[in-house]
Amino acid sequence: MDLYQALNERRSVRKYTNDPVEPEKLARILEAARVAPSWKNLQCWKFIVVKDPERKKQLAESLPETNPARRAIGETAPVVIVLCADPEASGLQDGKEYYLLDAGLAMQQLILAAHAEGLGTCWVALFDEGKARPACAVPGEFRIVAITPLGVPEKQPGEKPRKELGEIVYSETWGQPFTEQ
Ligand SMILES: Cc1cc2nc3c(=O)[nH]c(=O)nc-3n(C[C@H](O)[C@H](O)[C@H](O)COP(=O)(O)O)c2cc1C
Repeated sequence: MDLYQALNERRSVRKYTNDPVEPEKLARILEAARVAPSWKNLQCWKFIVVKDPERKKQLAESLPETNPARRAIGETAPVVIVLCADPEASGLQDGKEYYLLDAGLAMQQLILAAHAEGLGTCWVALFDEGKARPACAVPGEFRIVAITPLGVPEKQPGEKPRKELGEIVYSETWGQPFTEQ
């Protein structure tokens, strides 16, 4: 799949079919995450692949009931991936904690690769880390940055609006309108 097609088509998927995730697809998706860029190439991340139904339920309980991805994590998605990162194994520059960026980049590569494989994902960051941690025995020095369900989408979700380029891109200095010429 063309990169731009993946970028434009990817959506957060919260409803999944019962179909399993083929191991070869899972391997390629994890490989895409593995090659992500990171602060000083320190690769501060760990990915936990969860398939056990009881463990998935336990993870889902770390999401508030109002989180729209809760059912996908606990019931419908055949696979759940828990993304952990060690803040000490990344950079801290001017108060900016780069472990979150490292982890985010790896997750986004995983998510785009999943889409290219015909699979759905959904970034989940609204959860109680204290409840999620024991579900996967994550050691204290690691933060759980995100969780995603992974599976075959029930249907392609609709498009969400984005800000126009004119609202977010400046030319040369702050506030100067950008013209595409
Ligand atoms: C850092 C981050 C955290 C998110 N946390 C959640 C979440 O806890 N639950 C959820 O259902 N969606 C979550 N989302 C998905 C966003 O709601 C979604 O990306 C956004 O509405 C745009 O929709 P789209 O991904 O379909 O384009 C999160 C996305 C990001 C990037």
